[in-house]
Amino acid sequence: MTLPESLDFSHLYSNETKARKPSPLKTCIHLFQDPNIIFLGGGLPLSDYFPWDNLTAQSPLPPFQKGIGAVPSGSKEDTLNIHVKKNEKNGNDIPLARALQYGFTPGQPEMLSFLREHTQKIHDMKYADWDVIASTGNTNAWESTLRIFCNRGDVILAEEYSFSSSLAAAEAQGVITVPVPVDSFGIVPEKLEELLDSWTEGAPKPKLLYTIPTGQNPTGTSLSSERKEAIYRIAQKHNFLIVEDEPYYFLQVGDYVPDLKKREEINSAPRPTHQEFLDSLVKTFLSCDTDGRVVRLDSFSKVLAPGTRMGWITASKKLLRPYVSLHEMTIQAPAGFTQVLVSGTLNRWGQEGYLDWLIGLRHEYVAKRDHTIDSLSKYLPQSDAFKVLPPVAGMFFTIDIDASAHPDFKTKFDSDPAKVEAAIYERVIKSGVLVVPGSWFKTVGDTVPPQPKTSDNAKKNEIFFRGTYAAVAPEKLEAGLKRLGDALKEEFGFAA
Ligand SMILES: Cc1ncc(COP(=O)(O)O)c(C=O)c1O
Repeated sequence: MTLPESLDFSHLYSNETKARKPSPLKTCIHLFQDPNIIFLGGGLPLSDYFPWDNLTAQSPLPPFQKGIGAVPSGSKEDTLNIHVKKNEKNGNDIPLARALQYGFTPGQPEMLSFLREHTQKIHDMKYADWDVIASTGNTNAWESTLRIFCNRGDVILAEEYSFSSSLAAAEAQGVITVPVPVDSFGIVPEKLEELLDSWTEGAPKPKLLYTIPTGQNPTGTSLSSERKEAIYRIAQKHNFLIVEDEPYYFLQVGDYVPDLKKREEINSAPRPTHQEFLDSLVKTFLSCDTDGRVVRLDSFSKVLAPGTRMGWITASKKLLRPYVSLHEMTIQAPAGFTQVLVSGTLNRWGQEGYLDWLIGLRHEYVAKRDHTIDSLSKYLPQSDAFKVLPPVAGMFFTIDIDASAHPDFKTKFDSDPAKVEAAIYERVIKSGVLVVPGSWFKTVGDTVPPQPKTSDNAKKNEIFFRGTYAAVAPEKLEAGLKRLGDALKEEFGFAA
């Protein structure tokens, strides 16, 4: 079956994007690689003077039988040796001399071909002219996205609680972020539709929806395939783009099983096959995308290491073009060392080996999530005022708290949930543990003229705190959760 071409969304570009002309110098840089051209045209230093002759590293070897945290012993049973030369083209390696030179803003070809193949394995692409380009992670990719599509005063949509750095990036660019109502399973499509159908006349319509669909930061919720399809249809109806920021996509840990015997049975089952693993992954917005209106941001930060500073953007070739032009003048490209090492590792692991890694990573996160939820049920005050919804993906858990259950709610705190939140934050820090207030993540923008006010009385006194089970080892995690439980008991006057 031949797939359709993507639609043209250039009417959504920012003035900056419309004004950007390609740097004339960038139009000829590819000729540096042409053996028939003596390149006297650009300020490229001669690679002979790059002081590194090779790059050598060791990683564990697929299928990671001893777990992904096992230190490679150096033996050929469990150790992969990566050795990349400066001037030799060895298999799929990126020669160091090329990686450390200027050029290849979209990413080194060996890295990109791995990512294209990976994309085809994970997403059911529904249009023909899609592609991937390298980014220096999702922070960079999101900031570029804002610049490409938004002018000061433009409007975007985001979950009503969202990653504070992403919201701050939009605010700093003068972009107004209007909150979209969420429940325990993420964006509620009916409420999104209602918001857009009753959009205030004269207010600028949103250009894009910024969403963190899997293991959302901060709420820990995950959008189902059905909700994604419904949201995609709304995006078509109101003609905006969807930007899916997905650093946690592969941390899909499934439902929490409280029964220890049942959990033991599940855990002792053989490792899933690659096909079973792929089938278990929730459908992505990219897989719903027939128009080329989805921009997907992926990152190696949570699956390999944040310091790689590398990720990639998947979208239609048309939409990727302004990203390349912008990156030519901003990041230029992810660091050459990173590309050599990440590409050298992944191309040696192969697509199947990378799936083994992701399966191993998921296994670790299932244990961390389970341990966290078990400990929270043990240590939190036993009261309906404290609720934890076990996350099915990502690295965050939230504790929802009914602030009105505080004995001093009406007196000391003037019936103000924000004051209770501040008191809890102060107390948990004094108790030697850190979780962060939900209000830090609130999406607060409004259009001019404003959108109709909606009030949800049921949620009026609800506050929440976000914690993560990613950052510490199991013993420390449990000790931290006990401190948290004790702090809440003390604050709310429960016997410890
Ligand atoms: C939703 C979200 N986007 C982006 C990032 C940053 O990702 P990167 O390290 O790829 O820049 C984070 C990290 O905390 C995140 O939670």
